[in-house]
Amino acid sequence: MTSPNTKVARWSDLPKRAWITGAGKGIGRAVAERLAMTGWTVYASARTTSDLDDLSRAAAGAAGDIVPIPLDITDPEACVQAVARIADDDQPLGLAILNAGTHTPTPVEGFNAAVAGKLIETNLTGTVNCLDPLMKLMINQHNGHIAVVASLAGYRGLPRAAAYSASKAGLIAMCEAFQPELARKGIRISVVNPGFVKTPLTDLNDFEMPFLIPVDEAVDAMITGLQKGRFEISFPTRFAILMRLMRLLPYGLYFRLTGKILDR
Ligand SMILES: NC(=O)c1ccc[n+]([C@@H]2O[C@H](COP(=O)([O-])OP(=O)(O)OC[C@H]3O[C@@H](n4cnc5c(N)ncnc54)[C@H](OP(=O)(O)O)[C@@H]3O)[C@@H](O)[C@H]2O)c1
Repeated sequence: MTSPNTKVARWSDLPKRAWITGAGKGIGRAVAERLAMTGWTVYASARTTSDLDDLSRAAAGAAGDIVPIPLDITDPEACVQAVARIADDDQPLGLAILNAGTHTPTPVEGFNAAVAGKLIETNLTGTVNCLDPLMKLMINQHNGHIAVVASLAGYRGLPRAAAYSASKAGLIAMCEAFQPELARKGIRISVVNPGFVKTPLTDLNDFEMPFLIPVDEAVDAMITGLQKGRFEISFPTRFAILMRLMRLLPYGLYFRLTGKILDR
């Protein structure tokens, strides 16, 4: 049995080997490049192998390496195989950033269970598929840091984003639930809650995104939070504070505000 006083690893003590899902584009790719530049070996996963090859080329000459591990996180057996492949290398895995995710609007008008289910299958169940073998690996190592990318949209239900908000709220709750047990096993878990970040995903949005930030700013905030060992890493700061205040509002007031989103 592990002592309740087992120390969770500090960033500086982590083996510099990281697994990042959703590393082919957007936030995941930018974090993968940044870690490789600073000497990390990055196991980079996504479904589109050409994106992973492109990432490897972009990071050629970096102090670290990119190791492409093509993966569809909605396939639980493939997730087990991906983690087994990483565990086959002789050094322990220091960090995993479970970032793969997607967004599709799910308004009431035209609501479709298949569309909503597919989103939840990727964002929530897909991340769970990764967490299963990953937590086993890190528990065996007695070391490691897991970061799950959720969203500020997981704080409360947002109009036209029912499935997305639900999937991200599920991830936040899951990380909160795991934290005390994992800490006793020497493993740190963080939940990353971004606001709007300019990526191929948000390029599809046809509305004005408040507090939109460039991807490099998101990477800075994420890595700073991870280095400090924070449980919650949310950014950009002003939008995160606003969303945190929204979480405190009584329903009557909250629905008056979210109703205004529908009028835009
Ligand atoms: N951008 C934002 O404003 C924002 C805000 C809050 C939260 N987030 C979250 O941040 C994460 C990254 O978002 P992003 O904006 O960088 O998105 P993105 O540009 O669309 O990139 C998403 C990455 O995830 C991969 N992916 C999607 N489905 C996958 C699957 N089933 N298996 C494996 N990989 C999969 C994609 O590659 P393939 O399609 O090739 O698999 C791609 O590499 C997501 O979880 C998103 O919900 C983003």
